[in-house]
Amino acid sequence: MLLRGLGAGLAAAGVLAAAGPTPTPTPTQVRRADDDAQRPAGGISITEPAVNAASSYYKIGPHESVTFGWSFTSLTATPSRLFVAASCSQNGVTYPIAASPTGLPGDATNVTWYPYGYHLQALQQGHPDLLAAKYRLLVYDEKGPDAGAKGGEFQPNNQAEFALYFPQHYTPLADWTCGSCNDAAPARDSSVLLRLGALAGAAALGALLL
Ligand SMILES: *[C@@H]1O[C@H](CO)[C@@H](O)[C@H](O)[C@H]1NC(C)=O
Repeated sequence: MLLRGLGAGLAAAGVLAAAGPTPTPTPTQVRRADDDAQRPAGGISITEPAVNAASSYYKIGPHESVTFGWSFTSLTATPSRLFVAASCSQNGVTYPIAASPTGLPGDATNVTWYPYGYHLQALQQGHPDLLAAKYRLLVYDEKGPDAGAKGGEFQPNNQAEFALYFPQHYTPLADWTCGSCNDAAPARDSSVLLRLGALAGAAALGALLL
């Protein structure tokens, strides 16, 4: 699934077009297991990250913050508080972004997260560090992340996915990749995706690009 997202991201970055005939997944092929669940109205619709793989890779680095945004849908009552977390598919850890008990005001429509700050704090305090991996954004209200759906009430949302990366860890591979590049240096976004490709498997990425 990461590779499908990666393919879509590469297509968006114009890399596939330059690389000749390769499978060209389109965003409509990027499916999520829970797409099939018909969700009753009431809750939020995630507006940021957009449902677009190329825009949802975020750097874990100094001064790099991430804003998640949403709009409310069909709510008859505003939640008291909203809580935001990110669950990592690779290690099963759920990382706090706007944690209980403080969270956010019930009518908040965005939250800005500083992953690098979390990373430093985790190292200092012995908490699970962030991984360069995929995450699922969780937004829920005071009824908790597992609250059931009720007409008009806030329903927990786990529809958005994003990925984090530590850019410096992948510089050697990026350099190696660029050794075979022509004069047209890859755009910044595509070098990001190439580094993520290292995460997904260099062999698979090679198959995609060569
Ligand atoms: C974030 O939310 C606040 C109020 O909740 C709003 O004033 C601000 O414009 C929002 N920012 C973005 C980037 O959506």
